[in-house]
Amino acid sequence: MCPELWRSIDRYLTENLVGADPALDRALQANAMAGLPPVDVTPTLGKLLHLLARIQGAKSILEIGTLGGYSTIWLARALPPEGTLVTLEVDAQHAEVVSANLTRAGLRSLIDLRVGRALDSLSQLHREGAEPFDLVFIDADKPNNPAYFEWALRFSRLGTIIITDNVVREGSVIDAANADPRVQGARSFMQRLSAEPRVEATAIQTVGDKGYDGFALALVTRAG
Ligand code: SAH
Ligand code: DHB
Ligand code: MG
Repeated sequence: MCPELWRSIDRYLTENLVGADPALDRALQANAMAGLPPVDVTPTLGKLLHLLARIQGAKSILEIGTLGGYSTIWLARALPPEGTLVTLEVDAQHAEVVSANLTRAGLRSLIDLRVGRALDSLSQLHREGAEPFDLVFIDADKPNNPAYFEWALRFSRLGTIIITDNVVREGSVIDAANADPRVQGARSFMQRLSAEPRVEATAIQTVGDKGYDGFALALVTRAG
């Protein structure tokens, strides 16, 4: 384990490939000022989400877990002018920070920010007859990851991409005896993912500014 080196390299990659970005930098500042936990995706992962959304040609995106909207900004910037992004956040204080960050980034009008428990918002979206999304990003409370994945599938079409953050948790994901409900969430998510015939999936370990973790990427290859 070499967290100092991971951090230095992440900074190096970010300086070279992401650079300064007023809207994103300002959002992180506002999040810190408001006392939000610094668990946003890293700049390099944010940019990967952005590029995946563009490769996908995504016109509609569902995000579960908004925090201060850092990942939301990266994803929303990949959308065409008529695109939409629905993002779900339980904490009303976080949502206020999000709203200000999105307004400053010029993206507020593209985004449907729903405050409440994500499981409730997902049921509500279903009742409203929401169309399938092109890309889903799951990054909220980890114990619910299997349930969020179920919903993501329900809101998918052939070719939808489902990305799930924090699936490695410093390696604790392979520790069956770990009682942390976030680890158990990551474990049952992995079980669920590996048994799901409607997707082709992989997962990648990441090191960097936020330590050692990983994300999973699933492509929906079979309907229903
Ligand atoms: N995607 C963000 C980080 C999200 S952190 C980014 O990369 O910038 C996880 C967020 O999920 C937190 O803001 C937390 O308040 C929210 N959350 C936790 N439990 C939730 C729930 N049950 N429903 C919706 N959001 C939840
Ligand atoms: C936590 C949540 C995240 O989304 C993340 O990327 C890292 C940590 C957490 O709640 O511990
Ligand atoms: Mg995360």
